[in-house]
Amino acid sequence: MKSIFSLALFAAAAFAQNAFIGLPTQGQSVSPGSSLIVQVTRPNTLSGSEEVAVVIGLQSCPGRPCTSPADYMGQILYNGPFSPQYHEPQNPPYENFTVQIPSTIQNGTALIGVAHVTLLGAGSYPWLEVLNQTITIV
Ligand SMILES: *[C@@H]1O[C@H](CO)[C@@H](O)[C@H](O)[C@H]1NC(C)=O
Ligand SMILES: *[C@@H]1O[C@H](CO)[C@@H](O)[C@H](O)[C@H]1NC(C)=O
Ligand SMILES: *[C@@H]1O[C@H](CO)[C@@H](O)[C@H](O)[C@H]1NC(C)=O
Repeated sequence: MKSIFSLALFAAAAFAQNAFIGLPTQGQSVSPGSSLIVQVTRPNTLSGSEEVAVVIGLQSCPGRPCTSPADYMGQILYNGPFSPQYHEPQNPPYENFTVQIPSTIQNGTALIGVAHVTLLGAGSYPWLEVLNQTITIV
């Protein structure tokens, strides 16, 4: 019983460490050359953590499967500090990044990749997660 409980706690703690892409929404239509808000949300964690950075990449993958951004970030739209903050009381901490969609990008499916680096716990161990969101270039 005790081990099931600690497993559940562990799973909850591991889950709580995940950031997610709040915006753009899945399949959101974006035009070439426009600016796009990429919102990276970082739910508050019980264990201490220190944010390091995010990288936002973009790959065009019309009519074929997109490559995992863990292997291929594509064109880098942002590479720099990450400082999620509370903005609205109902929302977890997040940061909006305004990025520029290249004017030469092909129509069709494209993939936003986000690499997120954090230092976790008392020992500040480095931790990397890679997130993605599909958008549609029209
Ligand atoms: C995007 O993220 C989802 C959820 O983690 C994952 O299942 C999917 O394989 C990822 N897609 C790519 C192309 O990496
Ligand atoms: C982040 O972007 C969203 C979408 O445009 C907007 O609703 C929100 O107010 C922005 N937040 C901040 C702090 O600028
Ligand atoms: C992309 O889609 C837009 C809107 O549908 C269209 O006007 C444009 O000609 C398309 N561009 C290409 C290269 O197909």
